[in-house]
Amino acid sequence: MSDFTRINGALACEGVRLADIAAAEGTPVYVYSAATIRNRFRAIDDAFASHPHALHYALKANSTLAVARLLRSLGAQADANSGGEIDVALRAGFIPPEIVFTGVGKTQAELAQAIELGVRTINAESEGELERISALARARDTRARVALRVNPDIEAGTHPHISTGLKTNKFGMAIGAVRDICRRASRLEGIEIAGLHIHVGSQITDLAPLRRAAEAIVALARELRGDAVSIDHVDLGGGLGISYDGSPVPDAADYAAALLPAVKDSGLTLVLEPGRNIIAPAGALLSTVVDVKEQPGITFVVLDAGMTELIRPMLYGAFHRIEPVLAATAPEITCDIVGPLCESSDTLGKDRRLNRPAPGDLMAVMDTGAYAAVMASNYNRRTLAPEVLVDGTRWTRIRRRQTIEDILALET
Ligand code: LLP
Repeated sequence: MSDFTRINGALACEGVRLADIAAAEGTPVYVYSAATIRNRFRAIDDAFASHPHALHYALKANSTLAVARLLRSLGAQADANSGGEIDVALRAGFIPPEIVFTGVGKTQAELAQAIELGVRTINAESEGELERISALARARDTRARVALRVNPDIEAGTHPHISTGLKTNKFGMAIGAVRDICRRASRLEGIEIAGLHIHVGSQITDLAPLRRAAEAIVALARELRGDAVSIDHVDLGGGLGISYDGSPVPDAADYAAALLPAVKDSGLTLVLEPGRNIIAPAGALLSTVVDVKEQPGITFVVLDAGMTELIRPMLYGAFHRIEPVLAATAPEITCDIVGPLCESSDTLGKDRRLNRPAPGDLMAVMDTGAYAAVMASNYNRRTLAPEVLVDGTRWTRIRRRQTIEDILALET
């Protein structure tokens, strides 16, 4: 059940009317529900309760400090994809052994940071990276725990831009090469190969590829154990999708039922890196209609939010529901809902049916808790929108609106 519901026709997040938040903060503004975050984190945690597991929340989905702190308070650990995300994790209170560090292009500085901190695992992407980790760790007289990111050549059945498990994708080491790489890596000092890592894509709604990936990586872990490599965990990444359009999708219990059989009797701890599934449905982006304009054969509803606040529709052809915040009664029209940026691709929704809005009306773009604020930009010198966290009948601004002074402070 969603925590965004209508109270007397007006859209609310938990017990707070979205119109009240827009009146106080202005638009665009991102609003998140703490209840949704709690419920969705716990749903995954509970679904995997029968097996030793750790949920490393993928900070890339939404790493605002208050969101990260909330997840930590629920027992989440962290998956960081850059030095910046490691810094955010630490500021949010995660300790290094609670952080896994992933990423296809880790710099020497980032690797050194992770090694010095002693993160739980560095998910290594290539043999070259293993050698660099080894050299950096030896120079610091320490050992780094690494997991090998495996590319299983499995089609995840998602948008090609967010598919990561095919051999033509840049991620990981080809599954057929991992045994040999491991054999060579066992001679490297300064590293301990502790796990295998896999992440085949994001917004996955068919569980079969995830199940196949789990089976492949557990089989490989068994072989490596046979070679006396002390693998203690498999990290199956993230990827579980959500329903953006209301069609049925697998839930946390289905997800666990797909993955657990592969690891059940393996003696391996299961690490997961969920992002979107927890945080996407927890967010809405509020925006104001600035214009409604008729062109021959097409009506445009122009919002004060666009690709700078939510780039998913433009980048992946993603669908997000867009709803009026207050009850609307005007006759329905078919329209394109667009943003204010000077790009024709700046379209949030195409051919949408909507009660004809008027300038000044508030709209909510739904399921924007993940990969929205974190992918925002200053294009057209637009300032980053503020973020608000609702908890019951209270709400808190967790990030203020950026100002043009904030941006220009970096410039001469
Ligand atoms: N672990 C790794 C190694 C990843 O690359 C990702 C996402 C995750 C975990 C979290 O995946 P999730 O559970 O959120 O699916 N910007 C795109 C999504 C990019 C996902 C990148 N990697 C979008 O808006 O759809």
